[in-house]
Amino acid sequence: MGHLEGKVCLITGAGSGIGLTTAQLFAREGAQVIVADIDRTAAEQAAAGIAATTGLATAVQVDVADAEQSVATAASVVAEFGRIDVLFNNAGIPGVGDVIETDPELFDRVMRVNVRGVFLMSRAVVPHMMAQRSGSIINASSALAIVGVARRVSYAASKGAVLAMTKSMQVDLAPYGVRVNALCPGTVMTPFVERYLKQSYADPEEGMASIRKRQLTRELGQPMDVAQAALFLATDESRFIMASGLVIDGGMTGGR
Ligand SMILES: NC(=O)c1ccc[n+]([C@@H]2O[C@H](COP(=O)([O-])OP(=O)(O)OC[C@H]3O[C@@H](n4cnc5c(N)ncnc54)[C@H](O)[C@@H]3O)[C@@H](O)[C@H]2O)c1
Repeated sequence: MGHLEGKVCLITGAGSGIGLTTAQLFAREGAQVIVADIDRTAAEQAAAGIAATTGLATAVQVDVADAEQSVATAASVVAEFGRIDVLFNNAGIPGVGDVIETDPELFDRVMRVNVRGVFLMSRAVVPHMMAQRSGSIINASSALAIVGVARRVSYAASKGAVLAMTKSMQVDLAPYGVRVNALCPGTVMTPFVERYLKQSYADPEEGMASIRKRQLTRELGQPMDVAQAALFLATDESRFIMASGLVIDGGMTGGR
């Protein structure tokens, strides 16, 4: 028996990186996975890959920051599968720049996806979890909500907001048997990081060296490191864990 046998798990941003690896892992653990992404092709390829190999997956295109689309996504999952046991609010975008460099449009874009997206998807799914009187919501925060890193003003603000929102939501939802936790990863090798290395450093190799240096492992994390943490928070084994920010960062924050 897998750890998520029979559970219906909605994962946003599951067309790439951490979300994709988590979708594959959850399916292997017996979940019915809904791969949600703004990139329809990526979502469909991910779901098809899972369905052809290890498990049960369907794809849905959604912009998590769009109110109507978020409600329609939650409704379609409940119409097809009858419930939503796990919502992994994983979709997110990077934002590189200090307070001067960050233009207001970038700031708004990052906050829209990373904060409004978590808020709206949760708002759409929570009524179903409240009615079930069970559920686990996992929000993608970041180690950057805990420690300062240069030139991440918009991104750090968004991930700090996600961590604070997680705690507040948990207080409201505890009476309904719904748990809300956040993941705080350090630097994990995904297409997201490849993009921001190019944006942040004239020489991406130099950027990679400085990231390695700030982690006790001297290595970047892998998507599976975060997926395993998400799996733990998704299962009932973590039933006493609420309103937490689980740090998965190779010692970057704790070892400072
Ligand atoms: N990679 C890291 O080092 C790292 C560290 C800490 C936190 N995180 C967080 O983990 C999450 C996943 O990151 P990743 O590295 O796997 O990124 P990624 O870029 O590989 O994947 C992100 C996915 O989200 C999707 N997406 C973007 N905007 C969307 C929207 N509006 N609606 C729906 N889907 C949307 C993208 O299409 C993409 O498939 C993000 O929230 C990120 O901030 C990543």
